[in-house]
Amino acid sequence: MARQRAAYNRFALSYEIDAARRRDSWAARWLEPVMRHVELAGRKRSDVRVLDVGSGIGSFAGHLAHEGFDVWAIDIADEMVERTRARLRQVYGSDAQSRAVRGSFIEHDFASEQFDLILGVAFVHCLPRPVDVLAIRKMAELLNEEGIAYLTTTAEPDGQEALALKDAMRGERDGTLMRRYRTRYTPAQFIDRIRAGGLTPWSWPGYGAPVELDSLTPADAMPIFSDTHVPGKRWVDVVATRQGALLPVPATDPGVPEPTRSDELVPVG
Ligand SMILES: C[S@@+](CC[C@H](N)C(=O)[O-])C[C@H]1O[C@@H](n2cnc3c(N)ncnc32)[C@H](O)[C@@H]1O
Repeated sequence: MARQRAAYNRFALSYEIDAARRRDSWAARWLEPVMRHVELAGRKRSDVRVLDVGSGIGSFAGHLAHEGFDVWAIDIADEMVERTRARLRQVYGSDAQSRAVRGSFIEHDFASEQFDLILGVAFVHCLPRPVDVLAIRKMAELLNEEGIAYLTTTAEPDGQEALALKDAMRGERDGTLMRRYRTRYTPAQFIDRIRAGGLTPWSWPGYGAPVELDSLTPADAMPIFSDTHVPGKRWVDVVATRQGALLPVPATDPGVPEPTRSDELVPVG
């Protein structure tokens, strides 16, 4: 934990330098795979409580706050939380201080709080096995019955976990190289972890019925997407619900032609 905190405190400045070019400006597009379901659930935005777990500099939290959602965040690194607060302050003023918590998601006591949308963008892989499953289980408990989670990680050829060097700017100018802990998953392993945590993972190409995912799901049905900026890097971007809940999709109406798969959909990069 201490090492993660120290590493991400160092990364914060690189993330911030990257914000205008990538993190803030692409936040809406990267969230599209989950926000389409949140919008289809039909709730008033101000009634949708969002928790951004491992919020980093707050690009997603800030974007959703500006969009009118009721946004909360947690990150273990002070430098990250301060940046999340700065983005939330533009919408919530001094309330941003309490809306962005500095702490470990695993340890933080959320009392009886519940959320309608939980984001774990590039978060779960910061935790070692089996803590990753404990985190997902905690998300499942914090989700309202109809709530949706969005969990993303990179698609790896094999699963490993180790201290590894991370370049926060991916080899570009102003990069910050630090060792930090990283769990790697194959897409099937990531799906397995999500199921073990008590959530049901789904894939929905934009038409038809959503496909419930398990580790036997063929690769071409997995929600795997190319990084929007880094050639060769691929992401597994998973929307998930509580077990027994359904993913909101448009009601099928034989009179209305089905939408075709949108090439415009550009998930987390
Ligand atoms: C790879 S970054 C992703 C940040 C952001 N979600 C994004 O996509 O830009 C992972 C974030 O998780 C935070 N983090 C790592 N372990 C955590 C923990 N146990 N509890 C809360 N935050 C944690 C790190 O400080 C870091 O900001």
